[in-house]
Amino acid sequence: MVHLVIDGKGFQAEEGQNVLEVALENGIEIPHLCYHEQLSPYGGCRLCLVEITRGARTFLSTSCTYPCLEGLVVRTDTPDVLRARRLVLELLMPLAPEAPRLQALARQMGVTETRFASDEEVDDCIRCGLCIRACAELVGAEAITFSGRGERRKVEPPFGEEALNCIGCGACVFLCPTGCLHMEDQDGVRTLDKWKRTLSLKACASCGRRYLPFAQIEFARQKGEDPPAEGWFEFCPDCR
Ligand code: SF4
Ligand code: SF4
Ligand code: FES
Repeated sequence: MVHLVIDGKGFQAEEGQNVLEVALENGIEIPHLCYHEQLSPYGGCRLCLVEITRGARTFLSTSCTYPCLEGLVVRTDTPDVLRARRLVLELLMPLAPEAPRLQALARQMGVTETRFASDEEVDDCIRCGLCIRACAELVGAEAITFSGRGERRKVEPPFGEEALNCIGCGACVFLCPTGCLHMEDQDGVRTLDKWKRTLSLKACASCGRRYLPFAQIEFARQKGEDPPAEGWFEFCPDCR
């Protein structure tokens, strides 16, 4: 275990835990958009900035990528921290101006307007990489990736073609902080427009509703995974 101080209070943390994780576990709110406790930290949104004092040095760092170390002193609410986070939010807002989570953060942080504009066509994606990490690390499908650099960087299937590895599980849609990913079930087919993917759905053995992509069942079987619950592959959530 290591000992650190956050906002004047002492905490114990396990080696390897990051500062954001320990703060959140102890009820200290730090705004964050690209962190998820089950995924590797990426430092993509930069909203979780805090002030860190280590030895004689004091500096700003993203808390989701900074490891808890013995004797670390962290401040989450200094004027510099709050100013830097507001600037980060101003930079993110033009990328996803309609995203409710960004709007809520702006209200909370007192950001009423942004001095920046996006040169790219607005697609409501803040390039946080949460969808890519969820697909690779939680699902194991590795269906999507970043392409391009700088302002042209975007998330897409390999070579911009249909994401053939996508099994239609919806994890990326569920976790996306801006809500810019969409998944629709219609006439027995699931469509994920951003991944150019359409998947045929299996019907529930009881009510007949087509609800589960065959590709998802096949993927689980290939991985040798047991269904999460009895009847999971046969019956829809309403009939289980
Ligand atoms: S829906 Fe497709 S792209 Fe999204 S996490 Fe699942 S497999 Fe990956
Ligand atoms: S699609 Fe959503 S989760 Fe993926 S990078 Fe963009 S904002 Fe993040
Ligand atoms: S939550 Fe730390 S950089 Fe996004």
